Amino acid sequence: MNVILVAAECAPFSKTGGLGDVAGALPKALARRGHRVMVVVPRYAEYEEAKDVGVRKRYKVAGQDMEVMYYHAYIDGVDFVFIDSPVFRHLSSNIYGGNRLDILKRMVLFCKAAVEVPWYVPCGGVCYGDGNLAFIANDWHTALLPVYLKAYYRDHGLMKYTRSVLVIHNIAHQGRGPVDDFSHVDLPGHYLDSFKLYDPVGGEHFNIFAAGLKAADRVLTVSHGYSWEVKTLEGGWGLHHIINENDWKFRGIVNGIDTKEWNPKFDTHLHSDDYTNYSLETLNVGKPQCKAALQKELGLPVRPDVPLIGFIGRLDHQKGVDLIAEAVPWMMSQDVQLVMLGTGRPDLEEVLRQMEHQYRDKARGWVGFSVKTAHRITAGADILLMPSRFEPCGLNQLYAMNYGTIPVVHAVGGLRDTVQQFDPYSETGLGWTFDSAEAGKLIHALGNCLLTYREYKESWEGLQRRGMTQDLSWDNAAEKYEEVLVAAKYQW
Ligand code: GLC
Repeated sequence: MNVILVAAECAPFSKTGGLGDVAGALPKALARRGHRVMVVVPRYAEYEEAKDVGVRKRYKVAGQDMEVMYYHAYIDGVDFVFIDSPVFRHLSSNIYGGNRLDILKRMVLFCKAAVEVPWYVPCGGVCYGDGNLAFIANDWHTALLPVYLKAYYRDHGLMKYTRSVLVIHNIAHQGRGPVDDFSHVDLPGHYLDSFKLYDPVGGEHFNIFAAGLKAADRVLTVSHGYSWEVKTLEGGWGLHHIINENDWKFRGIVNGIDTKEWNPKFDTHLHSDDYTNYSLETLNVGKPQCKAALQKELGLPVRPDVPLIGFIGRLDHQKGVDLIAEAVPWMMSQDVQLVMLGTGRPDLEEVLRQMEHQYRDKARGWVGFSVKTAHRITAGADILLMPSRFEPCGLNQLYAMNYGTIPVVHAVGGLRDTVQQFDPYSETGLGWTFDSAEAGKLIHALGNCLLTYREYKESWEGLQRRGMTQDLSWDNAAEKYEEVLVAAKYQW
């Protein structure tokens, strides 16, 4: 099968979050299963390995003619095509930057161009548009692609066998705007209704995700738990009606992880500065060494016995950083160390700085983002906190388990799917979970976790080993994606 994954970001070129990781890894796993796979992504900066293919195309966006060029690279069995235009260039430090209309126009241009890539961009002599083709679009940014595929082609009897799958990584962002925004997307008037949505918060408005969900042949969420949550009033953020109406085409598939990039045995960020690589066999030597190296790097007392707790993520309401902030006084009353890494809401960034200032010998709040530090915290910490209010899949808990770091999570979405609560009687489970987003619940779960860390070393090691021996690779998930692509193909 020919598969084209279209996304607004892709690791390692333009990653800002989990979506980028998925776009970087899933295609390679599909290619390993024998499919011909392409990734289409904007060209936000100059990527050395990608070469101009010499094709130029023009698209009308909001009445303006825009030219695009295409850059291509073949990496790990996947064709990467970068769409180049002045509207994408130089956005690398802030790829979602600009006002609503700027962003909308960029996504219109990107989706219009992406849907035609299989016909215009030569990829080593292989034509992707031979009828056995499926697009995988991701989140609201590319939710216009299934709509364009339908409106420009299928409604005219073209591309009859080309399918589209839309993946929901986060339904809270939907591409909302006033109904007038419809004039910018360049579609026949009868499509207006599929974009119109009414909800008590936004009133009647224009909603790109709504139209994409209706037009796509299949819809996926990035975990089973989340596929249930988006059908509820609370979890659907206004789209639950549409999702329930289209229930037949829904499915949840838990993301995998890139086991080359996130593997304590090969992790390149553990090659230097006192860190070391480790595996299941060397866990009891390698992980303590990484912990000591992290304590040293952060300027915390180097103590092997003190539990080191980590948090990595965007500093916002979704990630429950305010719950951690509420729990900090309790945590600091315990013999623990805490390191938090992330950027986001200015008031929460201030919380991190304050915490570090107040508890110099126990806590570090690293405001910023550093891939290297994220890897080193994942390796050096004993415990990873993820109190997210909602979490479509969550990748950090998967990375943590692969490194023998024990997750303490709010049991929602993908966190509930992937972290089974530890049961001391049967010695099963992978971490600690709590069932509502409250600081008291977080403290209770963390308290039990700390007790086990201190008093029950064998149980702790059991937790670590079970986490590390799971198959979290993309190969599992890719097989399930393939099922969905095939099901869509034989739909009629
Ligand atoms: C989004 C979600 C996160 C998920 C990621 C990749 O960032 O918030 O939970 O893991 O997408 O699918």
